[in-house]
Amino acid sequence: MYTVAKAVIALGAFIAPSVAFSGDMTYYAPGLGACGNVNTESDAVVAVSSSQDGNCGRTINISYNGKTASATIVDECPGCPVGSIDVSPVVFEQLESLDAGRVQVTWEYA
Ligand SMILES: *[C@@H]1O[C@H](CO)[C@@H](O)[C@H](O)[C@H]1NC(C)=O
Repeated sequence: MYTVAKAVIALGAFIAPSVAFSGDMTYYAPGLGACGNVNTESDAVVAVSSSQDGNCGRTINISYNGKTASATIVDECPGCPVGSIDVSPVVFEQLESLDAGRVQVTWEYA
């Protein structure tokens, strides 16, 4: 299992940035992020899985249900598998009501 996970992570790093990722999108309350910046819930920001956190400051475009939102990577989400993202409420609301809590999205580096 561990070997498979490492292979998936290696593949993800290899195919970035041209291929879209997919995973769950949840939202969180941003603060001091792993990238060293302080953000608030009204900033369009995102935390990505720890294996993708070398991408501080990059913008991603998130697609859901025919809609797109952009967010800047400012933090890491240690509990996220590769492809899953944690966004600020202002980003989540552009795509779906906060009530949904968790939805499946695709995204790519802008
Ligand atoms: C990401 O979104 C921005 C703003 O809508 C757009 O200008 C840009 O072309 C998009 N990038 C990709 C790779 O789709």
